[in-house]
Amino acid sequence: MTGRDITTKTKKEGMQSMPCGNGHLLLSIAFLLLVTCGVCCTSVKRFAYEGFWRDKWQHPEQVIQVLEIQPGQHIADLGSGSGYFTFRFADAVGPAGKVYAVDVDQEMNKYLEKQAGKRGCQNIEVVLAQHHDPLIPKDGVDLIFTCNTYHHIKDRVAYFSNIRKYLRPGGRVAIIDFSGKGWFQKIFPHFTASAVIKKEMESAGYHLQHEFDFLPRQHFLVFSKNI
Ligand SMILES: C[S@@+](CC[C@H](N)C(=O)[O-])C[C@H]1O[C@@H](n2cnc3c(N)ncnc32)[C@H](O)[C@@H]1O
Repeated sequence: MTGRDITTKTKKEGMQSMPCGNGHLLLSIAFLLLVTCGVCCTSVKRFAYEGFWRDKWQHPEQVIQVLEIQPGQHIADLGSGSGYFTFRFADAVGPAGKVYAVDVDQEMNKYLEKQAGKRGCQNIEVVLAQHHDPLIPKDGVDLIFTCNTYHHIKDRVAYFSNIRKYLRPGGRVAIIDFSGKGWFQKIFPHFTASAVIKKEMESAGYHLQHEFDFLPRQHFLVFSKNI
Protein backbone atom coordinates (compact mmCIF):
# COMPACT_ATOMS: atom_id res chain seq x y z
CA MET A 1 0.00 0.00 0.00
CA THR A 2 1.46 3.39 -0.94
CA GLY A 3 1.37 6.54 1.18
CA ARG A 4 -1.22 7.90 -1.28
CA ASP A 5 -3.42 4.83 -0.79
CA ILE A 6 -3.21 5.22 2.97
CA THR A 7 -4.22 8.90 2.74
CA THR A 8 -7.19 8.10 0.54
CA LYS A 9 -8.24 5.38 2.93
CA THR A 10 -7.89 7.73 5.92
CA LYS A 11 -10.02 10.38 4.23
CA LYS A 12 -12.73 7.84 3.47
CA GLU A 13 -12.63 6.61 7.06
CA GLY A 14 -12.99 10.23 8.21
CA MET A 15 -16.08 10.63 6.07
CA GLN A 16 -17.66 7.40 7.30
CA SER A 17 -17.48 8.31 10.99
CA MET A 18 -19.42 11.54 10.75
CA PRO A 19 -21.27 12.40 13.98
CA CYS A 20 -23.18 15.58 13.38
CA GLY A 21 -25.85 17.51 15.28
CA ASN A 22 -28.45 19.70 13.52
CA GLY A 23 -26.76 22.97 14.49
CA HIS A 24 -23.48 21.75 13.17
CA LEU A 25 -25.14 20.52 9.98
CA LEU A 26 -26.76 23.92 9.32
CA LEU A 27 -23.49 25.72 9.99
CA SER A 28 -21.70 23.33 7.68
CA ILE A 29 -24.23 23.80 4.89
CA ALA A 30 -23.95 27.59 5.26
CA PHE A 31 -20.18 27.33 5.11
CA LEU A 32 -20.32 25.07 2.05
CA LEU A 33 -22.67 27.51 0.28
CA LEU A 34 -20.37 30.39 1.10
CA VAL A 35 -17.36 28.57 -0.28
CA THR A 36 -19.24 27.32 -3.35
CA CYS A 37 -20.78 30.70 -4.19
CA GLY A 38 -17.63 32.63 -3.60
CA VAL A 39 -14.99 30.25 -4.80
CA CYS A 40 -13.16 33.05 -6.61
CA CYS A 41 -13.64 35.54 -3.86
CA THR A 42 -10.53 36.35 -1.86
CA SER A 43 -12.43 37.47 1.23
CA VAL A 44 -14.44 34.24 1.37
CA LYS A 45 -11.24 32.23 1.09
CA ARG A 46 -9.66 34.36 3.80
CA PHE A 47 -12.61 33.61 6.04
CA ALA A 48 -12.38 29.91 5.21
CA TYR A 49 -8.67 29.88 6.11
CA GLU A 50 -8.74 32.12 9.15
CA GLY A 51 -12.35 32.01 10.41
CA PHE A 52 -13.14 33.53 13.78
CA TRP A 53 -10.98 33.13 16.86
CA ARG A 54 -8.31 31.09 15.07
CA ASP A 55 -5.61 32.35 17.42
CA LYS A 56 -7.38 30.54 20.28
CA TRP A 57 -6.61 27.11 18.83
CA GLN A 58 -3.76 27.90 16.44
CA HIS A 59 -1.45 29.32 19.14
CA PRO A 60 0.65 31.14 16.53
CA GLU A 61 3.07 32.72 19.03
CA GLN A 62 3.87 29.33 20.53
CA VAL A 63 4.35 27.84 17.06
CA ILE A 64 6.85 30.58 16.18
CA GLN A 65 8.56 30.25 19.56
CA VAL A 66 9.16 26.48 19.42
CA LEU A 67 10.54 26.77 15.88
CA GLU A 68 13.36 28.88 17.37
CA ILE A 69 13.53 31.18 14.37
CA GLN A 70 16.58 33.41 14.30
CA PRO A 71 16.79 36.96 12.92
CA GLY A 72 18.19 36.92 9.40
CA GLN A 73 16.88 33.45 8.52
CA HIS A 74 15.08 32.70 5.27
CA ILE A 75 11.71 30.93 5.48
CA ALA A 76 9.29 29.63 2.85
CA ASP A 77 5.64 29.67 3.95
CA LEU A 78 4.35 26.98 1.61
CA GLY A 79 0.67 27.47 0.87
CA SER A 80 0.74 30.90 2.49
CA GLY A 81 -2.93 31.71 1.73
CA SER A 82 -3.84 35.06 3.25
CA GLY A 83 -0.57 35.20 5.21
CA TYR A 84 -1.71 34.11 8.67
CA PHE A 85 1.81 32.86 9.43
CA THR A 86 3.72 34.84 6.78
CA PHE A 87 3.48 38.14 8.65
CA ARG A 88 4.43 36.53 11.95
CA PHE A 89 7.50 34.97 10.34
CA ALA A 90 8.39 38.33 8.81
CA ASP A 91 8.46 39.83 12.31
CA ALA A 92 10.52 36.91 13.63
CA VAL A 93 13.26 37.01 10.97
CA GLY A 94 13.43 40.81 10.99
CA PRO A 95 14.68 43.15 8.28
CA ALA A 96 17.81 41.05 7.60
CA GLY A 97 15.70 37.94 6.97
CA LYS A 98 13.34 36.93 4.20
CA VAL A 99 9.98 35.18 4.01
CA TYR A 100 8.83 33.67 0.74
CA ALA A 101 5.04 33.54 0.64
CA VAL A 102 4.54 30.62 -1.71
CA ASP A 103 1.13 29.74 -3.12
CA VAL A 104 -0.45 28.43 -6.33
CA ASP A 105 -3.40 30.82 -5.91
CA GLN A 106 -2.60 34.03 -7.76
CA GLU A 107 -5.53 35.93 -6.24
CA MET A 108 -4.42 35.17 -2.69
CA ASN A 109 -0.86 36.08 -3.66
CA LYS A 110 -2.04 39.48 -4.91
CA TYR A 111 -3.97 40.01 -1.69
CA LEU A 112 -0.94 39.07 0.42
CA GLU A 113 1.37 41.29 -1.64
CA LYS A 114 -0.98 44.23 -1.12
CA GLN A 115 -1.13 43.58 2.63
CA ALA A 116 2.66 43.33 2.81
CA GLY A 117 2.88 46.69 1.03
CA LYS A 118 0.35 48.29 3.39
CA ARG A 119 2.24 46.99 6.43
CA GLY A 120 5.60 48.01 4.97
CA CYS A 121 6.99 44.47 5.15
CA GLN A 122 9.94 44.62 2.82
CA ASN A 123 11.20 41.18 3.83
CA ILE A 124 8.25 39.33 2.26
CA GLU A 125 8.52 38.08 -1.30
CA VAL A 126 5.48 36.52 -2.91
CA VAL A 127 6.10 33.49 -5.13
CA LEU A 128 3.56 32.01 -7.55
CA ALA A 129 4.23 28.28 -7.15
CA GLN A 130 3.49 25.40 -9.46
CA HIS A 131 1.51 22.50 -8.02
CA HIS A 132 4.53 20.20 -8.25
CA ASP A 133 7.22 22.74 -7.31
CA PRO A 134 7.23 25.75 -4.94
CA LEU A 135 9.83 27.55 -7.10
CA ILE A 136 11.71 28.89 -4.10
CA PRO A 137 14.73 30.95 -5.20
CA LYS A 138 17.91 28.94 -5.66
CA ASP A 139 19.84 30.20 -2.62
CA GLY A 140 17.37 28.24 -0.51
CA VAL A 141 15.82 28.59 2.91
CA ASP A 142 16.43 27.57 6.52
CA LEU A 143 12.83 26.50 7.06
CA ILE A 144 10.03 25.31 4.81
CA PHE A 145 6.85 25.75 6.83
CA THR A 146 3.46 24.56 5.73
CA CYS A 147 0.18 24.92 7.61
CA ASN A 148 -3.10 23.26 6.60
CA THR A 149 -1.72 22.70 3.11
CA TYR A 150 -0.11 19.24 3.29
CA HIS A 151 -3.38 17.47 2.46
CA HIS A 152 -3.75 19.61 -0.69
CA ILE A 153 -0.44 18.51 -2.17
CA LYS A 154 -0.53 15.73 -4.77
CA ASP A 155 2.09 12.98 -4.97
CA ARG A 156 3.69 14.19 -1.76
CA VAL A 157 6.64 11.80 -1.66
CA ALA A 158 7.83 13.07 -5.05
CA TYR A 159 7.00 16.66 -4.06
CA PHE A 160 8.95 16.68 -0.78
CA SER A 161 11.76 14.67 -2.28
CA ASN A 162 12.13 17.33 -4.99
CA ILE A 163 12.09 20.27 -2.57
CA ARG A 164 15.02 18.94 -0.52
CA LYS A 165 17.14 20.97 -2.95
CA TYR A 166 15.69 24.21 -1.52
CA LEU A 167 16.87 23.48 2.03
CA ARG A 168 20.10 25.03 3.21
CA PRO A 169 22.43 22.86 5.34
CA GLY A 170 20.67 22.23 8.67
CA GLY A 171 17.37 23.30 7.10
CA ARG A 172 14.05 21.93 8.35
CA VAL A 173 10.54 21.25 7.11
CA ALA A 174 7.74 22.04 9.59
CA ILE A 175 4.34 20.58 8.81
CA ILE A 176 1.13 21.51 10.56
CA ASP A 177 -1.97 19.80 9.25
CA PHE A 178 -5.42 19.06 10.59
CA SER A 179 -5.60 15.87 12.59
CA GLY A 180 -9.25 15.01 11.88
CA LYS A 181 -10.39 15.73 15.45
CA GLY A 182 -13.66 17.61 15.97
CA TRP A 183 -16.98 17.70 14.11
CA PHE A 184 -15.90 20.23 11.49
CA GLN A 185 -13.02 18.12 10.27
CA LYS A 186 -15.24 15.05 10.18
CA ILE A 187 -17.60 16.88 7.81
CA PHE A 188 -14.85 18.41 5.66
CA PRO A 189 -12.25 15.66 5.71
CA HIS A 190 -9.28 17.90 4.97
CA PHE A 191 -6.68 16.28 7.18
CA THR A 192 -3.83 13.81 7.22
CA ALA A 193 -3.00 11.19 9.83
CA SER A 194 0.36 11.87 11.48
CA ALA A 195 1.49 8.30 10.70
CA VAL A 196 0.89 9.05 7.02
CA ILE A 197 2.91 12.29 7.18
CA LYS A 198 5.79 10.48 8.93
CA LYS A 199 5.80 7.59 6.48
CA GLU A 200 5.67 9.86 3.43
CA MET A 201 8.36 12.19 4.72
CA GLU A 202 10.62 9.26 5.52
CA SER A 203 10.12 7.97 1.98
CA ALA A 204 10.93 11.46 0.68
CA GLY A 205 14.31 11.43 2.49
CA TYR A 206 13.68 13.13 5.84
CA HIS A 207 13.73 12.11 9.49
CA LEU A 208 11.51 13.36 12.30
CA GLN A 209 13.23 15.91 14.52
CA HIS A 210 10.35 17.07 16.74
CA GLU A 211 6.69 16.35 17.27
CA PHE A 212 4.76 18.98 19.21
CA ASP A 213 1.42 18.17 20.79
CA PHE A 214 0.13 21.55 22.01
CA LEU A 215 -2.18 22.19 19.03
CA PRO A 216 -5.65 20.82 19.79
CA ARG A 217 -6.77 20.40 16.16
CA GLN A 218 -3.56 19.76 14.27
CA HIS A 219 -0.43 17.67 14.07
CA PHE A 220 2.81 19.64 14.24
CA LEU A 221 5.86 17.76 12.97
CA VAL A 222 9.35 19.02 12.19
CA PHE A 223 11.67 17.11 9.86
CA SER A 224 15.33 17.39 8.83
CA LYS A 225 16.58 16.06 5.56
CA ASN A 226 18.78 12.97 5.60
CA ILE A 227 22.36 13.69 4.63
C1 LIG B 1 -6.14 25.98 3.80
S1 LIG B 1 -5.09 27.13 2.99
C2 LIG B 1 -3.89 27.46 4.29
C3 LIG B 1 -3.34 28.85 4.21
C4 LIG B 1 -2.35 29.23 5.31
N1 LIG B 1 -1.22 28.34 5.34
C5 LIG B 1 -3.02 29.25 6.67
O1 LIG B 1 -2.61 28.49 7.56
O2 LIG B 1 -3.94 30.06 6.85
C6 LIG B 1 -4.16 26.13 1.85
C7 LIG B 1 -3.38 26.94 0.86
O3 LIG B 1 -2.50 26.06 0.15
C8 LIG B 1 -2.44 26.46 -1.20
N2 LIG B 1 -1.95 25.32 -1.99
C9 LIG B 1 -2.60 24.20 -2.34
N3 LIG B 1 -1.80 23.39 -3.04
C10 LIG B 1 -0.58 23.99 -3.11
C11 LIG B 1 0.69 23.65 -3.69
N4 LIG B 1 0.89 22.51 -4.34
N5 LIG B 1 1.71 24.54 -3.57
C12 LIG B 1 1.54 25.71 -2.90
N6 LIG B 1 0.36 26.09 -2.33
C13 LIG B 1 -0.68 25.24 -2.43
C14 LIG B 1 -3.87 26.92 -1.50
O4 LIG B 1 -3.91 27.75 -2.64
C15 LIG B 1 -4.22 27.64 -0.20
O5 LIG B 1 -3.88 29.00 -0.24
